[in-house]
Amino acid sequence: MSDQNLEIMTATHHKTKPDPETLEFGKTFTDHMFIMDYSIDHGWHSPRIIPYQPLTLDPAAMIYHYGQTVFEGLKAYRTDDERILLFRPDQNFKRLNRSSDRLSIPDIDPELVIEYLSELLKLDKEWIPTYEGTSLYIRPFIIATEPNLSVAPSATYKFMIILSPVGSYYKEGIAPVGIYVEDEYTRAALGGTGTAKTAGNYSAAYKAQDKATAHGQAQVLWLDSSEKKYIEEVGSMNVFFKIDGEIITPALSGSILEGVTRKSIIELLNSWDMPVSERKLSIDEVLLAIEENRLEEAFGTGTAAVISPIGELSWKGKQSLINNRETGPLATKLYETLTGIQKGKQPDPFNWTH
Ligand code: COI
Repeated sequence: MSDQNLEIMTATHHKTKPDPETLEFGKTFTDHMFIMDYSIDHGWHSPRIIPYQPLTLDPAAMIYHYGQTVFEGLKAYRTDDERILLFRPDQNFKRLNRSSDRLSIPDIDPELVIEYLSELLKLDKEWIPTYEGTSLYIRPFIIATEPNLSVAPSATYKFMIILSPVGSYYKEGIAPVGIYVEDEYTRAALGGTGTAKTAGNYSAAYKAQDKATAHGQAQVLWLDSSEKKYIEEVGSMNVFFKIDGEIITPALSGSILEGVTRKSIIELLNSWDMPVSERKLSIDEVLLAIEENRLEEAFGTGTAAVISPIGELSWKGKQSLINNRETGPLATKLYETLTGIQKGKQPDPFNWTH
């Protein structure tokens, strides 16, 4: 990167902060944002923190036409002794580069970007909520900005970071939700973009989400695209099952997003001598386990919700309850340990917090 000196322009007007007790997910934004530009001649340049504001882009900007964009999601917590904690930010920015590689977007320097993010967080520190269940959600993203309708990678980009004080991602919080097993639409195919955090993966899921809602369920369970047989993800999260004592999560097959929470849970469980099988898991195996009372727990994992237990599966018109629609002990222990580490309230033997 060239011209890396961070310029800071502080806001003269400070917005009213939302009530932490009624915070929703991703609807309010802090006073400042980070932005830097990319051009082929100058690389990433002109890093700056500016008052939060709208962007002006040419209507021909490539992001609008061919969706060349990637994003990340991570959270900041404020401790009782006023430290700001990030959870494994290196993992997010390395994954951003992997997503960028898939979308032919130039990579960023993770270490430098974490420094810029730290400066942004210091400025907007008062926006980090401390009320139970809240945090500051961080959304880094890159968009293609060249005005050009050719179907080819853009020559210019903007990298931005915006911050949003958030409550629970799902209104249910850590209460179990019902899941609709989707057998028509799929989320991602081998060789596609499923392993990248890119906008189209999410908007292409809305149609299936509408179906799940129409069937009275909160989220979609995604099956693989070729056989529609093996479980891949749930909603926008990775998924874990406990069957007969075996903790299983679908192996990273080439169409599943490599979640930071997924990875952390596997590492945490390993440290508790509870190894995780990363393998293929068919919907038939799960349904049989439910029928034979061997499915102990199931839950989704992601940055936004952390852990979201699954209380019911709906498949071909039949509903099956999981763990009597109660939050199981494993989901509870994982949620408490992970959020405890993230908030600095528990020892962090892995040095995950930054
Ligand atoms: C996450 O679980 O963190 C997600 O991917 C959801 C996010 C896109 C809001």
